[in-house]
Amino acid sequence: MKPDALTPWPYPRWIAHRGAGRLAPENTLAAFRLGAQQGWRMFECDVKLSADEVPFLLHDDTLERTTSGSGPAGQQPWAALSRLDAGGWHSPAYAGESLPTLENLARFCLANDCRLNIEIKPSPGTEQRTGEVVAQQAARLWRAEAVPPLLSSFQTAALRGALQAAPQLPRALLLDQLWSGWQAAASALGCVAVVGQHALWDTASVAQAKSASLRCLSYTVNDEATAQRLLALGLDGLISDRVDRFDPRG
Ligand code: G3P
Ligand code: MG
Repeated sequence: MKPDALTPWPYPRWIAHRGAGRLAPENTLAAFRLGAQQGWRMFECDVKLSADEVPFLLHDDTLERTTSGSGPAGQQPWAALSRLDAGGWHSPAYAGESLPTLENLARFCLANDCRLNIEIKPSPGTEQRTGEVVAQQAARLWRAEAVPPLLSSFQTAALRGALQAAPQLPRALLLDQLWSGWQAAASALGCVAVVGQHALWDTASVAQAKSASLRCLSYTVNDEATAQRLLALGLDGLISDRVDRFDPRG
């Protein structure tokens, strides 16, 4: 299938990973502000649920690495999570930054005309429910927008939950390896794209995705040679930490 047979793609090619990569504390509003100041117009973030099912931004299952808290993040209510420091681990200038809710980030993106890739990052055992709640909330927050957020996940159960809760929102299957049946799984989940670790993409894997009408995106692209290789393969999106290195209009 030729690329022009794919559905229109309303997203910028360059996507800032966790807001601004490592230049600011990942998944905080300070990071998204910094990324936007550097000219980036689309962001990737990681979203999971608090114990009382508030979607909020955090990469890890546990709180230790990027907050002042400890233990499994999904076992704490939002009232407790909202009091944690999510910036001091990075550098003193960011001490006091809080964990954002998905709603906080949606307001930022809508106010600043930025697009969003929401990676559904469920706490273990909550895959389908996290997909449902995140998709429901995303559909509500972006209901008046022409361009919806792109929902992605490594977890097929999370994408299934998203499909059931808000089938109109675009979905992408994340791949850290080309496991047997990835293409059929993406199609069965009604995905519009696959987001592969950069080493997975070559002429054959791109052709496989395109033959199933799937757009091809890649993470995490941090050096020039890798970016050039992927652009030559015709990838539709590159997720990068290096908001200071790449020109997002390129
Ligand atoms: O969504 C792309 C990328 O963020 C997936 O890996 O571990 O950085 O969330 P990770
Ligand atoms: Mg991620």
